Amino acid sequence: MTQYKFLESFKLANGVTVRNRVIMPPTTLRSSYATGAVTDAELRYYQLRSGGPGMVITEMAYVSGLGKTYVGQIGADSDRQITSLHKLAQTIKAEGALAVLQLSFGGRIAQPAVMPHEEIVGPSALPGHQPGMHTPRAMTDAEIRQSILDFGQATRRAYEAGFDGVELHGANMYLMQQFFSAHANQRTDAWGGSESERMNYGLAVLDEVIRIRDEITDERFIIGYRQSSEEPTEIGIRHSDALRMAKEIVKRPIAYFHLSLKDAFQTPFMDKTDLEPLYVKYQRVLGGIPLFVAGLLRTPTQVEELVQHGVAGAAIGRELIVDPNWVQKVQNSDEKGIRYALSPSDMMLLGIPDPLVPWLMTRFKKGLVVSTDEAFDLTVPWQYYR
Ligand SMILES: Cc1cc2nc3c(=O)[nH]c(=O)nc-3n(C[C@H](O)[C@H](O)[C@H](O)COP(=O)(O)O)c2cc1C
Repeated sequence: MTQYKFLESFKLANGVTVRNRVIMPPTTLRSSYATGAVTDAELRYYQLRSGGPGMVITEMAYVSGLGKTYVGQIGADSDRQITSLHKLAQTIKAEGALAVLQLSFGGRIAQPAVMPHEEIVGPSALPGHQPGMHTPRAMTDAEIRQSILDFGQATRRAYEAGFDGVELHGANMYLMQQFFSAHANQRTDAWGGSESERMNYGLAVLDEVIRIRDEITDERFIIGYRQSSEEPTEIGIRHSDALRMAKEIVKRPIAYFHLSLKDAFQTPFMDKTDLEPLYVKYQRVLGGIPLFVAGLLRTPTQVEELVQHGVAGAAIGRELIVDPNWVQKVQNSDEKGIRYALSPSDMMLLGIPDPLVPWLMTRFKKGLVVSTDEAFDLTVPWQYYR
């Protein structure tokens, strides 16, 4: 059997042991009840995938009604959600993985349909860069301060529900990233202006979450921070900006830092002259805080290469959707048994909830191998192959 380093345990910065270096990154299922409570379909999905990875980070949960992003999202916005969150935490932990709840606030990329009066909010009244995106209302100072407290209260709920920790969604164009981006944030108050002022929101959220963890007095409660390193717009975040913010983040007691990339080995896409992989740049600034990296990791060879280069955790997203037993197959010297293509006939077997299918076949299709395109009629959900 190959002695892969990624199958060995490691320690997070707060001393918690993770049983191996495979991380399941957040994967939104869009399958919760309208109240934000988790459904049995979601529990089954997580149960099937928690037997192998060292840590399972859940899909993003909204911290308040104003922070909701899409229909079918998990809620962490009130104490009424604790029972539902407890089921999710227990389902993951029963299979041996650490359970981490991702917390998010959608901001200007939210679906208007889930917002009060269909009005989305953001740092400034500036729409996202993709065609057809809606213009948000600029948040008031009071709303901004309340949202920071909401992240803290959602953290307390995660703890009370039995999660091992939380991850702050500072990546993928969600509100925490929007505040850092000059493309989204043109404020002139305490929350915008210079680069360091644009960092204020993300750092204030992190400080509040750390304050709550101190109140709980459980240092083993994990706090992770997820970041994207670049934006594709002319005005927007460049990797050097993101690295400066990462430096500020790791001055705080976080347990790990999670880099969200399209390809884990990529170099900066907004600076084609720079040929150094982004994960190497992050390793230099993180000062020993464990780094997780996500992006198109599929084979044991790729995962091992990343880990051999000193990356603490390899986050495998779509490949764990396609093969929930990826880790067990490697552990059992059964690499030939790993499946790399998603067959429409296996949706039920893989516990993939119906609302995830159109999402996978559109926005997340690039990089996902599907055995046949012909079986999908996205307009008639109940006709997905079984
Ligand atoms: C269906 C789907 C839903 C996702 N939902 C989230 C999410 O809730 N939060 C998040 O930070 N990233 C989310 N992501 C991004 C993944 O965590 C991961 O970074 C991305 O898929 C790249 O890894 P991969 O190439 O291994 O899939 C999602 C990805 C997919 C495919």
